[in-house]
Amino acid sequence: MQLLGGLSPQQFLQDYWQKQPLLIRQAIPGFISPLTPDELAGLACEATVESRIVLQQTGERPWQLEQGPFTEARFASLPETHWTLLVQKVNQWVPDVATLLDQFDFIPGWRLDDIMVSYAAEQGSVGPHTDQYDVFLLQGLGQRRWQIDPGAQAGAPLLDHPDLCILRDFKAEQEWCLDPGDMLYLPPGLAHYGVSQGEGMTYSVGFRAPACSELISSWVDDVIALLPDSLRYTDRDLSVPVHPGEIDPAALRRVRDILRQRLVDDDQMNRWFGRYITESGNTEQPAAGVEDISTETFLTRLRQAGGLQRSEFSRYAFIRQTDRVLLYVDGEEYFLSASQAAFASLLCDQRHYLAVELQPYLENATSLSLLTELFNRGALVLPDECVQH
Ligand code: SIN
Ligand code: CO
Repeated sequence: MQLLGGLSPQQFLQDYWQKQPLLIRQAIPGFISPLTPDELAGLACEATVESRIVLQQTGERPWQLEQGPFTEARFASLPETHWTLLVQKVNQWVPDVATLLDQFDFIPGWRLDDIMVSYAAEQGSVGPHTDQYDVFLLQGLGQRRWQIDPGAQAGAPLLDHPDLCILRDFKAEQEWCLDPGDMLYLPPGLAHYGVSQGEGMTYSVGFRAPACSELISSWVDDVIALLPDSLRYTDRDLSVPVHPGEIDPAALRRVRDILRQRLVDDDQMNRWFGRYITESGNTEQPAAGVEDISTETFLTRLRQAGGLQRSEFSRYAFIRQTDRVLLYVDGEEYFLSASQAAFASLLCDQRHYLAVELQPYLENATSLSLLTELFNRGALVLPDECVQH
């Protein structure tokens, strides 16, 4: 596989994923940034787009963070060197950036977070730091020198800064200079430091790994929502205690039984996770996509367009069970029969669907009405529907 420099996806996962960095020269040969620096700056002027600028200066407080949206005047007043503009979720706004994601389908789609694009002036950097997630850093324009410090452990001292987590001590052990098309994979927790050599752009394909505390808190919330207040601790088997002040073994067992029974229901847990992990958490989705059309009108529009695509604001995933398939879209659960497994996997495995691929499902009333509903909710869009911003 070209993207992985000749490594098979399985070899990559086995030897590098979450374990060690990998530099891939010309992962995308002749890669030309689909965005110009001006277009990226234009995105950072939009209120719905998340952006920030990191400036490095001399003196007492060497690092400065500014949150977007920015104005043209702000860009005009930036210094010649030592700053970086970072724009999150660019895949949601620029279809040619979203297309890059198709090359990363050797990793489950629900693990993917977004593509962040940065523009750095000469010597621009966000400082040495660690991230909690896996990232592929694809050079899009100009050159960037990346250094890593595998010796920097979790909890290593940081500079005193209210918003930025910059490592105080960073000892570069290895370094590479990346040209456009080169890509560096970094596992979570590996300290890295990228400095632009001349002006440059970097595409960061970032993954998500929910914190265990978040998982547990969301799961427990889900369980609680289904438990009526009237369901209580009971002890019909109570016998006269030897020590009335003791929480005796029988009481402790009853409490543990409640927790075990209520908190460890595999089926409920699986279904909660499908909803949880596909919740988009994105309030910026353009309302333009939300419609209320009939299946007939939907079919006409789809045929005219020649296909459909997933909204880049939406998250899709499915879970296969023995007798049915559970489809999750943006935190909503849809039940499909086991015979519709291919339909669920088409929707979730791909980002674009040709009319011919969809044809068998357009002939079936259940799948047609589901497609229409997803379209009306803005989770499916016509291929050329560009995001309005
Ligand atoms: C950048 O693109 O400047 C920062 C990417 C990173 O270090 O995670
Ligand atoms: Co980083």
